[in-house]
Amino acid sequence: MIEPPDNALPGIDRSTATPLHRQVYERFRTAIEHGVLRPGDRVASARSLASELGVARGTVEAAYSQLAGEGYFCAQGQAGTVVSPSLPVQRPVRAGSRPVADAPALAGPAAPPPLQLGIPALDAFPRKLWARLMARRARAMGAADLFYGDPAGHAPLREAIAAYLRVSRGVACQPAQVFVTGGYRASLALVARTLLARDDRVWIEDPGYAPTRDVLHSAGHRVVPVPVDDEGLVVARGVRRSPKARMAVVTPSHQAPLGVSMSLARRLQLLDWASRAKAWVVEDDYDGEYRYAGAPLPALKSLDGHDRVLYAGSFSKVLYPGLALGYLVVPESLRERFENASRIASNGCPQITQATVADFIRDGHFSRHLKKMRLLYARRRALLVEALHKAFGDRVRIDLQAGGMHLIARFEGHRDSDVVLARRAQAAGLNCQPLSARGTTAVEGQGLLMGFTNVASPTQARQLATRLRAALG
Ligand SMILES: Cc1ncc(COP(=O)(O)O)c(C=O)c1O
Repeated sequence: MIEPPDNALPGIDRSTATPLHRQVYERFRTAIEHGVLRPGDRVASARSLASELGVARGTVEAAYSQLAGEGYFCAQGQAGTVVSPSLPVQRPVRAGSRPVADAPALAGPAAPPPLQLGIPALDAFPRKLWARLMARRARAMGAADLFYGDPAGHAPLREAIAAYLRVSRGVACQPAQVFVTGGYRASLALVARTLLARDDRVWIEDPGYAPTRDVLHSAGHRVVPVPVDDEGLVVARGVRRSPKARMAVVTPSHQAPLGVSMSLARRLQLLDWASRAKAWVVEDDYDGEYRYAGAPLPALKSLDGHDRVLYAGSFSKVLYPGLALGYLVVPESLRERFENASRIASNGCPQITQATVADFIRDGHFSRHLKKMRLLYARRRALLVEALHKAFGDRVRIDLQAGGMHLIARFEGHRDSDVVLARRAQAAGLNCQPLSARGTTAVEGQGLLMGFTNVASPTQARQLATRLRAALG
């Protein structure tokens, strides 16, 4: 049900000579002509709009009948009144202005382009099952579900996450240590505002995940890039550059973007530094579940004898990113501080979404889904690798790590930088990303990152590889 928005239109004004029905009429007409109301949009009933505006119902009815008479409105019996579907669609315009060419129209959601990094297989998400679980939750909603939720997260979801982490990731924690957030960035922002002071130094991986740097930087902290080699973060370099850093943020299961797993020796060095420097370590375990050779590695948090590690998980890769849900596990010694910090603002996570995810985990769908996705991604990765080898022959070298959702393709002997190659691929509609843009000291820092999770068939893989070859030249 749509009412003419106030921002672009004159309000109801009792002090002018213009009759009220004429003012209502003008509001609608302008909204339609400015493209704010569109053909087919349903309008409020005369009775409810009259009550909303504090005018007599007859006033609104007079306006509606004039709008219908001039062809702006069209009555559809039981279905109510709509803006005439036969009117031409207008471009939206800014408040008070004439239609202009540069008025920005809001874009609807767009499907991600081929080879997009970091997203799960969107065609393989069990939508029907999800819709059923969500509908069941919606039907069962009681008064408590309509009230504000716990800012630390919906209790059944915190319990389900704690149980899952204990079994699957080797992380022993109580539900009270789990804080539900709006995703990884929200978790990191919560950590930063709870544990860090302005100008505190934080080690980040180089190359690394840009949002980590951006979140910390925008919160006023100083990021210290620390190189990554084939054993993960080079802890000794971090110690040399900034021994008194307050925190380190790492992706030990599957380094983003290089894909290496942090060796046990490095894990122990990092924990040792943290405990001596009284620093915190944030473990970003964004896709630790996806490993195609051998079992998933236990989380760094499982080795955390000194309680220095905060574990950040996300449902973006294991369910879908539009869900906007993640979680943070904090050491027991920090639980109260995080409870206080989380009370300052809502975590932004709708109760019904949290409850549905809890059902999904508890009813066993989550582990079944993960198992299926592991098999599917291994297959899809093989499809893309084979197609790239066929298209490029020995001009391409592909780094395959044990896990993850993307591969790194290196185009040997190409005279152009990976930034140029990525730009060409993107111009051809393929969302390849240059490795060198992810940091400054990358080992063998040139290559194209490509997500393989949505490469659905051998034919599609072949077409993508052919398109890429034509684009790279
Ligand atoms: C390294 C890394 N960490 C975390 C995430 C998850 O972030 P979010 O929960 O904000 O979707 C991603 C997603 O792309 C990622 O690549």
